[in-house]
Amino acid sequence: MSAQALEKKSSENYEPESPVSLALADRAKKFLPGGVSSGNRSVTPEIVFVRSLGARIWDADGKEYIDYHAGFGPLLLGHNNPAVNSFVKSTMDTIDLVGVGPAELEIKVAEKITRHVPSAKKVLFCNSGSEATYHAIRLARAFTGRHRIIKFQGCYHGWHDSVIMNVVSPADKVGFKDPLSAGMLPGALDNTIVLDFNDLNQVENTMKKNKGEIAGIILELIPHNIGCIMPKPGFVGGLREIADREGIVLIFDEVITGFRHDIGGFQKILGITPDITTLGKAMANGYPIAAVVGREDIMNRMGPGGDVFFAGTYNGHPVSLAACLATIQELEPGRVHEHIFALGNMMRKEMTNICDDLHIEATVAGFGSVFVTYFMKPPIENYTDLLRNNKSLFIEYRKQMIKRGIYMLPVNLKRNHISAAHSKEDVEITLRQSRDSLEAAKNSLKLQ
Ligand SMILES: Cc1ncc(COP(=O)(O)O)c(C=O)c1O
Repeated sequence: MSAQALEKKSSENYEPESPVSLALADRAKKFLPGGVSSGNRSVTPEIVFVRSLGARIWDADGKEYIDYHAGFGPLLLGHNNPAVNSFVKSTMDTIDLVGVGPAELEIKVAEKITRHVPSAKKVLFCNSGSEATYHAIRLARAFTGRHRIIKFQGCYHGWHDSVIMNVVSPADKVGFKDPLSAGMLPGALDNTIVLDFNDLNQVENTMKKNKGEIAGIILELIPHNIGCIMPKPGFVGGLREIADREGIVLIFDEVITGFRHDIGGFQKILGITPDITTLGKAMANGYPIAAVVGREDIMNRMGPGGDVFFAGTYNGHPVSLAACLATIQELEPGRVHEHIFALGNMMRKEMTNICDDLHIEATVAGFGSVFVTYFMKPPIENYTDLLRNNKSLFIEYRKQMIKRGIYMLPVNLKRNHISAAHSKEDVEITLRQSRDSLEAAKNSLKLQ
């Protein structure tokens, strides 16, 4: 059933019938632990998607959805973008993995990245954001000869031991170490210090208490892993000053914000340059590639003759590089960002009006193409503030949206992404469905 047809049914108490999806999800559980290959993919309702194009995804039962999940963010141009796909296909006809010297495309893409991303004087390619942050942190340790790293509560930087802690923590774990995995090295946990985003005083105090021990600070410039919290004026600039004063490495994790908010990353919008940047997700519109980029003296430590090891069988794979180059070429004229920013503004403004009309306490947050409706009043400056979010309403609203053919991940605090393939009409449909979904969610939760 199409999103438009689903929209007509929205006034009825429509329950999705997904027998094929459910059967596939059950079969997956026989072979994959939990039925998925990445933790956050296991959500209810259990839907198995079998087709994607533009702003739409289709499930195994033939239902169509407008997609705002965007594979956790990479699909900036929309699914199966023709320019990206066609360059990928022609590259596949020419070369696959050889694994000696640079690939020609590697040079072209690195040139583009150094032209657009202010901090990128040198570039190294890897395959995932987690690899990129792993290398960035190791580099910071090697460069400073120190061990400890500062990260912020609510920021996610991938699955490795130094960072996989304190993202969406339960209230009683905030202020304490909250590892997300068993089996982590105690030394890695001890050497990561978790602070509140937007609190420069905490960083200053931590620097004093750990004099000569901090190697670097890593942060998402906008912590999109808990929706969208903007950095307060002076916060990122303050971190830059501290890093300069203390001789430590400032790492901007732009795995989400890079390319999505600007081809030069959010650092370009802020006008503040880190020592190292990690990039991933939107850089290749859904193909697996990531990068560590940064200051020449630090990056050269990972080159031949340097003392920091960097390798990977699939690093700089021509297929992903082709997708990356085609994505950058699509972004260069500026029309994509103009379009997605306009739709993002429209979504935020109208969602705010709908919540006001329905007397729902809400803060519609976002930046550019990213939007999220928190069910709580401002101020929202850090993760602790988000503990006031009405989690039940957040999740129920998104489940109601899914019934109506709009896919927003039904997981607390997850952001939504608009792509170049979304149209004004898609946003209008989404807003109409939002009104109905909020009313239905209020009824189902018996809220006034
Ligand atoms: C900001 C940020 N950094 C790093 C990562 C890890 O990237 P990957 O999942 O590609 O390993 C993510 C993934 O969501 C992320 O959001």
